[in-house]
This record gives sequence, C-alpha cells and structure tokens, in this order.
Amino acid sequence: MKMVSQSHTTTMFLFFTAFLFIFQSVAATVRYTPKQNTTTKDIYFIRKSCNMTEYPDVCFTSLSSYASAVHKSPGKLAKVSIAVSITKAKSTAAYLSTLSRSANNNIISECVSFVEDAKDDMKLSLRQLRSMLVEDAAGRRSGKTFRGLVDDVRTYLSSSLASEDTCIDGLEETGQEGVIKNKVSDSVNALIRITSDALTLVTLYANNGAPPPPFSM
Ligand SMILES: *[C@@H]1O[C@H](CO)[C@@H](O)[C@H](O)[C@H]1NC(C)=O
Ligand SMILES: *[C@@H]1O[C@H](CO)[C@@H](O)[C@H](O)[C@H]1NC(C)=O
Repeated sequence: MKMVSQSHTTTMFLFFTAFLFIFQSVAATVRYTPKQNTTTKDIYFIRKSCNMTEYPDVCFTSLSSYASAVHKSPGKLAKVSIAVSITKAKSTAAYLSTLSRSANNNIISECVSFVEDAKDDMKLSLRQLRSMLVEDAAGRRSGKTFRGLVDDVRTYLSSSLASEDTCIDGLEETGQEGVIKNKVSDSVNALIRITSDALTLVTLYANNGAPPPPFSM
C-alpha cells in the first residue's frame, strides 16, 4: 500500500516537472518571437509621412530624431515640423544678416526681413496648432471646427513660404550675381524646402489625423 502511494507521488512529480519544462519552453518561445520594436515603428511612421512630402529626404533627415516623441501622431509630427522650421528660419536669418553686413548689400538685408516675417508667421501657426492639440487631449471643443482651425495653421505657413519666395524673387529681379547670390539663394531655398514639407505635414494632419467632428452639420 505504502509502495503504491509512493510511486504514485513520484509519477505525479515527474508529470509536474515535465509540465513545468514544457510550459517554460513555450513561454520562452513566445517571449523571443521577433517583433518590431517601438522605435522601429515610430521611425517607419516618420519615413512614411515624409514620403508624402515634396522633399522626403530633407523631411526625414530633419525629423527622424523626434520619432519617439512623435510616436505615430500626425498632430505631433506637424508640430515638430513647424518647430524645426522656426529653428531653421532663425539660423537662416542670422546667417543672412552676417552676410549682408559683410557685403553691405541692401537686397540681402531685405531678405533678412522677409525671413524674419516668415519666422513670425511660423510662430503664429505653431501657437495655433499647440492650442488645438491641447484641446484634443482634453477632449474639449472650441467654437471653430477642426477644419477651420487647421486651415488657419496652413494659412500662416503659406504666408511664411510667400515671404521666403519674395526674397528669392528680389535676388532674381535685381540681377544679383555670383557667389553672394548663390549663398543667399542656397540658404533660403533650404528653408523653403523645410517650410514646404511642414505645410504638407499639417495638411496630412488635417486630412488623416482629424478627430471625429463634434456633430454633423
Ligand atoms: C529598437 O531599435 C532601435 C533601432 O531601430 C535600436 O536602436 C534600439 O536599441 C532597439 N530597442 C530595443 C529595446 O530593442
Ligand atoms: C519611402 O520612399 C523610399 C524611396 O522611394 C522607399 O524606398 C521606402 O520604402 C518608402 N518608405 C515608406 C515607409 O513608404
């Protein structure tokens, strides 16, 4: 009787051990199943969005380091792209004013004012977009529709682009030549590319990232 009971216990013990072993192997297999990590997905989102802009490589290079902060949010990506444009406008204005002082050139100092106007409009668009994102997060609704608010953001950015273009037009019309002209147009064109991509990303936010309308009209 005692023997039987003991062997029964041993059998149970063996079964239990075998079960544990199998369970752990299965758990290990599940744990080590390869899957894309979050960072990879966040970077993929930036690449995919940037591919829809006019200058995908400029866009990706300037924005990919913000992937984990953006975390697949079209609204946050739009916000970061405007912030990056503002930084670029600041450095462009600083570079051009150094250039205009050393060349004593009025056309370049006019470009400085245009780039500063562009920067001011970018700041207005960023402020507007920020307040929208806060409202989104809090689930509140303002009087204007989402579409109306995001159109204001786009209007400010379009105005920035227009100021930047005016600088380039001025260079052409006054027949500026040579190295100085190339330096100015290279730096302003680089700013134009970043601003234009920001405008596209805001438009993507308007079209794809829109929260559902509060009520239908
Ligand atoms: C995720 O992938 C990125 C590069 O794609 C890598 O730098 C990072 O270390 C990875 N993180 C984990 C937790 O595997
Ligand atoms: C983005 O465009 C590049 C070049 O056309 C392509 O190789 C890549 O697969 C695209 N990536 C995404 C996520 O669409």
